Amino acid sequence: MKQFDFLILGSGIAGLSFALKVAPCGRVAIVTKKNRAESNTNYAQGGIAAVTSKEDSFELHVRDTLAAGAGLCKEKVVRTIVEEGPARIQELIELGMKFSESENRAEDGSRELDLGREGGHSRRRILHAKDMTGHEIESALLNAISKNRNIEIFENHLSIDLITSRKFGLNNGNRCLGAYVFDKKNNRVETFSAPVTLLATGGCGKVYLYTTNPDIATGDGVAMAFRAGASIANMEFVQFHPTCLYHPKAKSFLISEAVRGEGGILKNLDGKEFMDSVHPLKSLAPRDIVARAIDSEMKRTGADCVLLDITHKPARFIIERFPNIYKTCLGYGIDITKEPIPVVPAAHYQCGGVMTNIDGETDITGLFAVGEVACTGLHGANRLASNSLLEALVIAHRASEKILANPFSKTDAQIPAWQSGHATNADELVVVSHNWDEIRRLMWDYVGIVRTNKRLERAQTRIANLQDEIREYYWNFIVTSDLLELRNIATVAELIVKCALMRPESRGLNYNLDFPNLNPEWAQRDSVVRKS
Ligand code: SIN
Repeated sequence: MKQFDFLILGSGIAGLSFALKVAPCGRVAIVTKKNRAESNTNYAQGGIAAVTSKEDSFELHVRDTLAAGAGLCKEKVVRTIVEEGPARIQELIELGMKFSESENRAEDGSRELDLGREGGHSRRRILHAKDMTGHEIESALLNAISKNRNIEIFENHLSIDLITSRKFGLNNGNRCLGAYVFDKKNNRVETFSAPVTLLATGGCGKVYLYTTNPDIATGDGVAMAFRAGASIANMEFVQFHPTCLYHPKAKSFLISEAVRGEGGILKNLDGKEFMDSVHPLKSLAPRDIVARAIDSEMKRTGADCVLLDITHKPARFIIERFPNIYKTCLGYGIDITKEPIPVVPAAHYQCGGVMTNIDGETDITGLFAVGEVACTGLHGANRLASNSLLEALVIAHRASEKILANPFSKTDAQIPAWQSGHATNADELVVVSHNWDEIRRLMWDYVGIVRTNKRLERAQTRIANLQDEIREYYWNFIVTSDLLELRNIATVAELIVKCALMRPESRGLNYNLDFPNLNPEWAQRDSVVRKS
């Protein structure tokens, strides 16, 4: 058994920044399922929304967040994150993060930070590092971690399940004691124990056939927390990013909303600007509205994609501001300075998750959740662009302060060893890959941008059948990464459908043709699920 003071599952901005904060007080293990930099954070293009300019105010940022969240945000949480954000960003800069600078000079002669604009923001407030913000943040945090001897990173380790006192009848209440973790290289399951476990496992884009997320985004944290008895909320609010590159060879490549922030215009294949009649902010309307408008335009015209046109901007500006997007598209034969970019919506961000308070505490003692895996109440029914990295920084900090002020005692509970099945019938592994594909397709077709109860119920029945098969596999066969991730995407799919069926209204990202309007009774209600 590996014993630590802090066990962190996931190595994106939430996990890494928390690790740096708690490391002075104990030994930290970071468990991550691929290499240390492979996280959703690493692929974030847009940036971090924060109030840093004189033209902006906390009040405006709060107002924009509440408007995007369609009435479901928790205002106190929004205010806290917005107001504490600038201090956390300053810490990131002190760690070595370099944001893009503008031509303007501040009073002391230094260059001001360049502020990008994205959908739903009434001011320019997105701090960015060109169009590779997440990559730069991840590098800065990993660099700081590499110098910290109290932090050990376990790469190619995939968490299987949380270890809780309730599951093993070890003592009263429900306390998290650590996690069982699959060491992929050595094909064995290890037991990690710690008085504090942090879920920082990111989101679940891979539940859908088309996603902007990397392969790691299989909802592991939500699925493990649900199995352990934690409350999960608002999973119906899956954000579809309006503009994922549409190209047969491109997998999951995002075209940042910042492209529309800098003037990019959505057009249909006939060159008509279809957002004009949809929303006063046109192509820069909030994401849910843009994604639905694209979906409807594609259905109306029968086209496979729409176009995003930024060719009216000077080529030098485009190449300088969006070097990664320019280079990647050019690799697929699309010169974005001369021709429009074919785009489609794709699953992008999980706005619900493991319910936590403003300090990242879940309802299992000793278990915290931060970042996309968590549901703090910041995003409500629709996340405002670039608010997520900010949330991760602020809540990771608050969680660390809370824990360090009231440390959790170690328990002397005897954790049972991992029990695994023994069968390895390679012929049958096709069931695992088939079930992966089936879940992702049925979620795309039945639980996508526009929903109906009939489609949701159809999805529910299919998922229940698939889960029976997966359960049989799980108990009889030796675990593999594919099987563990399949089990997790099936659980998350079940939770998304369950939450969507609970909400008798269309609000934010949950658009249901059977309930096309807002229902005032659900204005402040989360859809909460717990394992029975
Ligand atoms: C983007 O660059 O469009 C993504 C930003 C975000 O999802 O917050």
